[in-house]
Amino acid sequence: MKEDDQHCFLRSNIRINTDPCKAGCARLARAGYAGRWAGLEHGVEQRIVEGYTEAAAELIPRYEAVSSSNLYSEVAHLLPELGGRVIDIGAGTGRDAGWLAAKGCCVLAVEPVAAFRRAGASLHQSPRIEWLDDVLPKLPRVLNRGETFDLVLLSAVWQHLDGQQRQLAMPNLRALTAPGGRLFLSVRHGLGAPTRPCFPATAEDAIELAHGNGFRLVLRRSAASIQARNREAGVTWTWLAFHST
Ligand SMILES: C[S@@+](CC[C@H](N)C(=O)[O-])C[C@H]1O[C@@H](n2cnc3c(N)ncnc32)[C@H](O)[C@@H]1O
Repeated sequence: MKEDDQHCFLRSNIRINTDPCKAGCARLARAGYAGRWAGLEHGVEQRIVEGYTEAAAELIPRYEAVSSSNLYSEVAHLLPELGGRVIDIGAGTGRDAGWLAAKGCCVLAVEPVAAFRRAGASLHQSPRIEWLDDVLPKLPRVLNRGETFDLVLLSAVWQHLDGQQRQLAMPNLRALTAPGGRLFLSVRHGLGAPTRPCFPATAEDAIELAHGNGFRLVLRRSAASIQARNREAGVTWTWLAFHST
């Protein structure tokens, strides 16, 4: 097992690089990403995006090896019908966007890592998928569009937001959910890679926050990790599904 997967950045007082991330930005600028940082605030989101960018070549096949139908087996009956509008936030390589598009949904795949967007656009070509570069918690580009969705999906993303960011994100997720629409959120329990900081999260806290922001819990299920590497590291998940009220 790689060292990356044995440790975690589960410290609430994580050190955030407030000095405009000189080393990271310089590295990315050399790699040709400089222009893509316009929407990102300097801080932990930027470090996470940098961590994913550096690991993208290894992560793309790992994400693509996951079966979306297995991943969503517990919540499949709550998916939107044909023609439903979905926003997949932190869409990664677009594996789930492709699966949902094949089911007839129109998907806005929101992903801050350029390498994932490029891979996704090439691997999951569909007129029903649109890619957008944006980042939680504020999602400025998404919110500017003024759209709402039948399903707001955050698969394996919530752990990358700290407590304050979660407070900021939840009203935005509610604003994106159409009347009668749903929010799916997976909550990670366990270790993560130190290069992609994650923060402790509980299902109870997520439920309380969602309930305070116009959502009602309709499903809660525990799930094992689908990725073998995460299973070996003892990572488990809680899937939460909410209705907008
Ligand atoms: C563990 S991956 C999950 C990817 C995909 N949802 C899946 O299930 O395969 C986490 C994803 O969240 C994205 N991400 C991390 N922090 C984010 C943030 N603040 N806003 C939006 N996306 C973020 C990462 O770039 C990455 O694609």
